[in-house]
Parts: sequence; C-alpha cells; structure tokens
Amino acid sequence: MKLADARAALREARHVAVLTGAGVSAESGIPTFRDAQTGHWARFRPEDLASPGAYFRDPALVWEWYAGRYRDVTRAQPNGGHALLTQLEREKGDGFFLATQNVDGLHTRAGSGAAGGQLVELHGNLTTARCEVCDWTADLPAPDHFTPPPSCPDCGGRMRPNVVWFGEDLPETALAAAATAFAGADVALIIGTSGVVYPAAGLAAEALRRGAVAIEVNPVETNISWQMTFAVRDVASRGLAALLGQEP
Ligand code: APR
Repeated sequence: MKLADARAALREARHVAVLTGAGVSAESGIPTFRDAQTGHWARFRPEDLASPGAYFRDPALVWEWYAGRYRDVTRAQPNGGHALLTQLEREKGDGFFLATQNVDGLHTRAGSGAAGGQLVELHGNLTTARCEVCDWTADLPAPDHFTPPPSCPDCGGRMRPNVVWFGEDLPETALAAAATAFAGADVALIIGTSGVVYPAAGLAAEALRRGAVAIEVNPVETNISWQMTFAVRDVASRGLAALLGQEP
C-alpha cells in the first residue's frame, strides 16, 4: 500500500478506531514511558514504581513520582497530533473511537471524546485519584496546593493514583468498548506506541483479522509493525497531517 491509498482508505472509512501511546505526547514535551526515568528516578524501573507491590511497600515514594508527573502534565499543552485526532473525530462523528494508553489527559484537553466520537483511557488518568476504601474518584487539587497522598472527599480514606498499574486489570467497560470498536473498524490507526503492553497491543490484530486496514504512525519500527498494512515513519503530528492530506 502507498500513502495515497492509506489516505483514501482513511477518507472513505465510516468506522475509524485509533490506539495511541506515549509517543503522541512526546511533542508536548512529556517523555515516553520508557524514556521517562531520568535524574533522581533513573535508579528505578517504571515497573518498580507503577505496581501494587511498590505502592504497598512505599506509598509516599510512589505518590512523589506521580505528583512530579502530574506537575509536568499540567504544564504541558496538547500538540498538533492531538488536535488532528480531534479534527478526525469531528469528521467521522460517532464512527470515531479513540483508545489511549496515556494517563496524561491531553486527548481530553484537546477535545477528543467531545467532538461526536468516543474516547476511552485504558490505563486511567494521573490527574485524578481513587479512594482505596470506597473507590470514590476525584480530580487532584491544583499542583501548587497538592500534598500527596490526597484524602477521599467522601469517606476520608487514603486515595491512590487513578491509573492501571502493572499486574492490574484494565477497566472492563473501556476495554470491551475498545474491542468492539476495533473489531468493527474499517481503518485502525496505531500511533506512538511500542506495542509491548497487552491487551492494548492486540487491538490492531483484531481489526486486521476482520478485514480492516491498519496504519501505524511511529518514527521507528515496533513490535507490532509487521502486522500493519501501512506505516508512516514520522512523528505523530506530521504523520497524521500526511494521512489527512494536510502537509504544509
Ligand atoms: N510521535 C510518534 N511516536 C513517537 C514519538 C513521536 N513524536 N516519539 C516517540 N514515539 C514512539 C516510540 O518510537 C515508541 O514506539 O512512541 C512509542 C512509545 O513507547 P512506550 O514508551 O513504550 O509507550 P507506550 O507504548 O504508550 O507504553 C504502553 O506501557 O509502560 C506501560 O502503562 C504504560 O501506557 C504505557 C504502556
């Protein structure tokens, strides 16, 4: 398949299912998950901070890490890639579905999920916390007024980051919605993900099995590139612009 064919497939598609990963937020200055361990945090593997075991051993340490990421995310702005996905949602309406593995909330801030289609955050959102006692979910206070751990506004219990950690199950409803959308997609777009974390990484395979065209946008080859019908080897904003026929 050539770029012109991929463009045509996307233009003509009634149902488009998109999976995004950390690469989509790289142009907003948020380091990808596997590049994020710098400075003080370089001696930890992400798995040693983002897991129930790590939180059980040292909740203050895990909260300190998330509070830092929360500060970075609130300072960052959605980029051109996020904006083009919102534009595509506007064009496709209820035929558009976006599943993100990102917990930074930037798709929501760019308008995804509010332009006629649907957005699900498969791995949660680090700008919110969830009560360990009663499951209440609440936004974190503004970074300047935030001292972790937050207390539940409903029952006073300790709250944890509202993200899916290694070894935890994905939210059932979000995952089921994503599986249905990818199974029914004419085109699946896989953007900025290394494709190593399942079940998210398996969504494209399901779309392909049902006859969809799968297009990857990523500057480098990934674990799931071999499955793709077509790949745009570029960063998310330029890759999407090329696919939507909007090159400068
Ligand atoms: N545009 C598009 N892709 C990019 C860009 C960019 N500007 N910069 C980097 N990438 C690509 C990288 O080449 C890589 O393939 O983004 C991908 C990022 O991979 P990861 O850091 O592994 O992130 P992700 O795939 O989202 O990780 C999945 O794993 O660690 C868990 O729960 C965490 O949600 C995360 C999940």
